[in-house]
Parts: sequence; structure tokens; C-alpha cells
Amino acid sequence: MPIKVMAVCGTRPDAVKMAPVVLELQKFPDKVNLVVAVTGQHREMLHQVLDVFRIEPDHDLDIMRTKQSLAQITTRVLQGIERIIVRERPDIVLAQGDTTTTFVACLAAFYNKVAVGHVEAGLRTDNKYDPFPEEINRHLTSVLADLHFAPTPAARKNLSAEGVSAGRIYVTGNTVIDALLSVAERPWSFRDPTLSKVFSDGRRMILVTAHRRENWGEPMARICRAIKAVVTEFPDTVVVFAVHKNPVVRDTVFPELNDVERVHLIEPPDYVPFVHLLKGAYVILTDSGGVQEEAPSLGKPVLVMRNTTERPEGVEAGTAKLIGTETDRIFQATAKLLSDSDAYNTMAKAMNPYGDGHASVRIREALFKYFGMD
Ligand code: UD1
Repeated sequence: MPIKVMAVCGTRPDAVKMAPVVLELQKFPDKVNLVVAVTGQHREMLHQVLDVFRIEPDHDLDIMRTKQSLAQITTRVLQGIERIIVRERPDIVLAQGDTTTTFVACLAAFYNKVAVGHVEAGLRTDNKYDPFPEEINRHLTSVLADLHFAPTPAARKNLSAEGVSAGRIYVTGNTVIDALLSVAERPWSFRDPTLSKVFSDGRRMILVTAHRRENWGEPMARICRAIKAVVTEFPDTVVVFAVHKNPVVRDTVFPELNDVERVHLIEPPDYVPFVHLLKGAYVILTDSGGVQEEAPSLGKPVLVMRNTTERPEGVEAGTAKLIGTETDRIFQATAKLLSDSDAYNTMAKAMNPYGDGHASVRIREALFKYFGMD
């Protein structure tokens, strides 16, 4: 009898990191009956990623509404995922990371006494409100999970310290590296005139992403001011800012940066062009978690515009720096990398502290073991 696995994702990063697991499980149709459910917490950004990996969801809850509250996301996901669980009766629900979709899908599984597998388990800042609400989503998901797929030994240590039994934790690497390696070699050239010019005019490109709730409003405005100061001070640079679809983010970023010379505000690109933007960047400024994991593999220095990180491996390896959201600090840290080649070269080391590209195979093997199929 094949096991029935229900993989759930809702946002863009959930999809990037769940895709390799889905593709790996699809290779075993005699052993796995796979159901892919998306909540549609993100609409455009999620489907872009699913298209890249040619994943067709079996269920799409389409819950996205503009400016909905966390409680609204929670109730829509809970009721919607429960309906699917009752209909499909999976043996296990797999969810990834720390979004509201992740935690709530696991809660729905628990209410229906269905086992839970957590991909990217054990990341912690131990600061309740930073990142918000992800830190608490992670804790709650760990409480609900039966199988914990920790990306690194540090993540396993966090789980062990919270009393998760060793036999339930598997250190697998992060599936983000599986996804990255599978697309980084795909040939790509930018057709968009702005981006093709960025890649041909010889200036150093600074890639920016910022979307976190704790950075909404004033911190986001300070980030924008730092960017303005950097391009003004360094005429040989150009900024590409992939502006998140969230209107709260856009309401700050567009007025601050729309008319600034050599700052290009672009729509969030599809996953493959985004990886090529990472490859083409000189420096990356971000508050994203996934980008912190991807950049070291590509040998790109990352300046993390947050006060905490649940991903200390990059900081310890020297490829990432935590710089907060004060304008002057962001400016100084970026200026140093742009003007001091020793400082730059120390950070620009290609390494994979987050995985070797085989995380999804290890997750599949652990699942088979859990169900006595190995
Ligand atoms: C969500 C996750 C966050 C993750 C981030 C990655 C939660 C609470 N937050 O934050 O952990 O780091 O995704 O991107 O789970 N929108 C669109 N189209 C899209 C996507 C978003 O228009 O494809 C707009 C909508 O107006 C939506 C808003 O963005 O309401 C916010 O989306 P939401 O999922 O609530 O939060 P994010 O800030 O994206």
C-alpha cells in the first residue's frame, strides 16, 4: 500500500523549498500517493514558483486577500486545509518553514490526528516578535510535528534543547539548495530592457529585497534612504530592488525611491530570473531568510537588514553580516564592501553552509523509514 503524503505550501518561499521534496516523492509513484495542496496565501508569487518546477496543485484554497490580518489568514487556512484533510485522509502532512500557512496546516493535521512532517525545522531567534510572526510559527510547528527535518546541526541542537527526541530529528540540509542548484545552471538572459542594460553597462549591481513585517513603515523608509545615499555616493553602482507584492511594502518603497537615478524598482521576478539576479549581483541587501541561504552558495556577500537572524551559519562563516535597519549603518556597511576589496573578498566566498543539494532525498528516506518502507 502506498503512503498518502499531503504537501502543503502557501507562500513563495514555502513553494521554493517544498518543490524539491515534491519532485523527489513524485519519483516513487508505487510507494507514494502524493497530494499537493496550496493555500494561495500568495497568489502570483506562489504560482510563478510552481510553474518553474512544473508542479500542478491538486487543491488551491486561493485565500489571498489584500491587507488581510494574520487572524484572517489563520482561520481561512485552518478551515480550508481541514476540508482537504477530511477528503483526502493523508497519512502525513508535510509543511515547510515558518509562514502562517505552515503552522496552521500542521494544526489542522493535528486536529484530525494526521502525522506532521516539518521541513526546515529548528530555526530560532528566541525573540518572540522578531521575526514576527515567524518565530512563534516555528515554535508552534515544532510542538505539532512528528518528524523534524532540520537543515543544519545547529537547528537540530535547538530542537534537542527543547526536548524533541533525537530519533525524530533528521539533519537533511536545506531544500533551498536543492532548488537553487537545479535552476542556477539553466541558461537565462534578461529580455526586459532595464535589466539587460543593468547586466551590460559595467556598473556594480546591488540587489535589494525587503518585506518583513517588523520592517514595515519607518525601518523600510530608513532602508530606502540608505539605498539613496549609496547610489549617490557610488556612481559606478546600480540598484535593483525587487519590490514585494505586499501593498504595505509598496506604500513606502515607491514614494521614497521611484524617481531616484540608477535605482530600478522591479516586480518580484520569477524564481529562475531571481536566481540570475543573485548571480549577477555584487552585493545583496535583504531581510529575507531564503536569500541568506542562497547567496553564500553563489559567493555573494549578504548584508542582512534585521536585528536578529535564525540563520547564524552564514554569519559564522563570514558570508553574511547582520546590520539592522539604521540608515547610517546600512550605508557604512555597503560602502565598505564597495570600496575595500579585502573586506569584499573575505565575504565573497562560495560555500554551502546550508546544504549540499540532496536534502530532499534525505527527507524522502526519513519518511520511508518512519512508515517502515526502507
Ligand atoms: C509572507 C509570510 C512571511 C514570508 C513571506 C515571503 C506570513 C504571516 N508571512 O509574508 O513569513 O517571509 O510571505 O514572501 O505567513 N501579495 C500579492 N500577491 C502575491 C503575494 C502577496 O498581491 O503573490 C500581497 C497581498 O496584498 C497580500 C500581501 O501581499 O495580502 C501580504 O501577503 P502575506 O502572505 O499576508 O504576507 P507577506 O508579507 O507576503
